[in-house]
Amino acid sequence: MIAEVAQATKDSLSLNPINRWVWVFPIVESIHICGFTLLVGTVALLDLRLSDLALTRQSIPQLQRSLAPWIHLGIAVQFVTGPYLFTASPHDYIHNPSFRMKMMFLAAALLFHFTVVRGAARQSRGPTVLWRRLIALVSIGLWIGVILGGLGIGFWSVND
Ligand code: HEM
Repeated sequence: MIAEVAQATKDSLSLNPINRWVWVFPIVESIHICGFTLLVGTVALLDLRLSDLALTRQSIPQLQRSLAPWIHLGIAVQFVTGPYLFTASPHDYIHNPSFRMKMMFLAAALLFHFTVVRGAARQSRGPTVLWRRLIALVSIGLWIGVILGGLGIGFWSVND
């Protein structure tokens, strides 16, 4: 029974276009890299404004509103391309310490963004600049954790 399931999984993996054609993975990964540049780039702009270090001519709530669609687009691109990249070799990725670290940072970064960061950015009379700078520092730190986790995936492989 287990052998059949393993064989069926192996067969389905080999039918998956990402494993059938050598050019699919690099194209999907390139879109994934564009997606994280868009996502982390727009989050960084919001964090810089929250810290009063850039874009200070715009109010924080106004900038949050104009960046939100781009942040959501970046997240959508990542949640389409990422899981598809994952299907290339689920067993390897699940046992990859860097992939696991990335998923933990990703959960924390998304939770922190949609609660603390958005909460602070939406208030017209928000927390003090000191608090805002702390929030921005934690936010960008969590996203850097996601990126380092993503970049580390290639360096770690269960076969070593
Ligand atoms: C939403 C935020 C995300 C960010 C910022 C992000 C970032 C990255 C980065 C920086 C890489 C490395 C690209 C390279 O090696 O050049 C990567 C690769 C990868 N990511 Fe993501 N990612 C995100 C979401 C996801 C999700 C949700 C999944 C899957 C569930 C995922 C799965 C993968 C996989 C499988 C790779 C390929 C690793 C490899 O074999 O080289 N990512 N990601």
